Amino acid sequence: MRDSGVSISERMTQLNRRLFGEDFKFGVATSSYQIEGATELDGRGASIWDTFCKSAGAIKCGHSGDIACDHYHRMADDVDLMKWLFVDAYRFSIAWPRVLPHGRGAINEKGLDFYERLVDRLLAKGIDPCVTLYHWDLPEALPNGWLARDTALAFADYTEIVARRLGDRVAMWFTHNEPWCQAFLGYQIGMFAPGRKAISEALVCAHHLLLSHGLAVQVLRAHVKAPVGIAPNFMPVYPASDSAQDIAAARRQDGYFNRWFIEPALGLGYPQDMVELYGSAMPLVSAEDLRTIAQPLDVVGVNYYERMVVADDPGNGLLQCKSVTQGNYARTQDREIYPQGLLEQLRRLHREYGLERIVITENGAAFADVVTEDGRIHDAGRVAFLQAHLEKVVEARAEGIPVSGYFAWSLMDNFEWSEGYTLRYGLIHVDFESQKRTPKDSALFYRELTRR
Ligand code: FCB
Repeated sequence: MRDSGVSISERMTQLNRRLFGEDFKFGVATSSYQIEGATELDGRGASIWDTFCKSAGAIKCGHSGDIACDHYHRMADDVDLMKWLFVDAYRFSIAWPRVLPHGRGAINEKGLDFYERLVDRLLAKGIDPCVTLYHWDLPEALPNGWLARDTALAFADYTEIVARRLGDRVAMWFTHNEPWCQAFLGYQIGMFAPGRKAISEALVCAHHLLLSHGLAVQVLRAHVKAPVGIAPNFMPVYPASDSAQDIAAARRQDGYFNRWFIEPALGLGYPQDMVELYGSAMPLVSAEDLRTIAQPLDVVGVNYYERMVVADDPGNGLLQCKSVTQGNYARTQDREIYPQGLLEQLRRLHREYGLERIVITENGAAFADVVTEDGRIHDAGRVAFLQAHLEKVVEARAEGIPVSGYFAWSLMDNFEWSEGYTLRYGLIHVDFESQKRTPKDSALFYRELTRR
């Protein structure tokens, strides 16, 4: 592969495994609804994403996760691909409605069996199974979804069922993936399932997600020895200028996006400036709930894709600010490329919150990949993206920031939520007609890096 005259082997002289230290784990990540398909098979119940995908206009091209990568049937081969990639770890999520079709009550053994087979196959191949308990596919059957406090209690029960079955074999646990997306895209902006549009509902959902996180950590402590954490998305926010107004605007955006989940989880409570801004939209929060939410964590997952530059914009929505473009950075299909933001985000998590163990749980890029005549995918843009971000991880480690793992998003192209199959984030190309998997040049690059 060549990109502006740089071959994979040349890139590898700039970046190699040794730079990351012996204990560093390289992995790939996916999530259940985005890859599994088989949404009606073997007793799986419906999730809010099954329902959301059916509502007109919700998803580009009317796509859904009904088939996705058909991973439910191709799991063994997909694990073999991971083995071929030489990854140390695989981060996947468990579909709650596959385990508990009604969200609570009767267990669907076939669903649990699937994850048990996956875990055992990973272990047989020497790959650490890292579980995310919730990556947005809530059982549809739970009345009122995350608006109901009961859903947090049901999540704790679901966690116990999974922990009892897999707790002796999973290497790392994450309660929630990107709770911001679930709460705010799902309940304020309406872009994600369940497609609701009220800030007050988003705040209730956020609170129940956090509560469920705290309860689940307590449950996990009773059943597993492996490290436990949460995987929020972080997006460093920069003020568009030095003006006090823009600085304050950036602070609001930061509170909304970055601080709202991690601070309560770390025992700091909800950010007071944001509580004031939300005013009457805020639900009542008891001190006891805040104590439950603030469980000690062994690891914090960082999902990083981009930064944001904001300017003050009085009258513009709740946050009174707008996103502006600054500088002339290269772009992926859907975002600006800003690797420095990853380093700055890591510094902040380390310095401000004193985190002792950080894992990059997601980082990756969508490009309009083309299968060329040689049957290959020369995704030079993705290779450069991965390299640039991995270099920032090396820098972070050199600064003493305890980053001990990196999961590329994603193992393979998959169902990209409201974008359907129009955005490809995989290291492995998926032909969604034939389900043929083809490693892209980025997979070859990653493989060179991960091989010991
Ligand atoms: C993250 C999600 C993940 C995937 C990537 C591209 O926000 O956690 O499921 O969609 O973005």
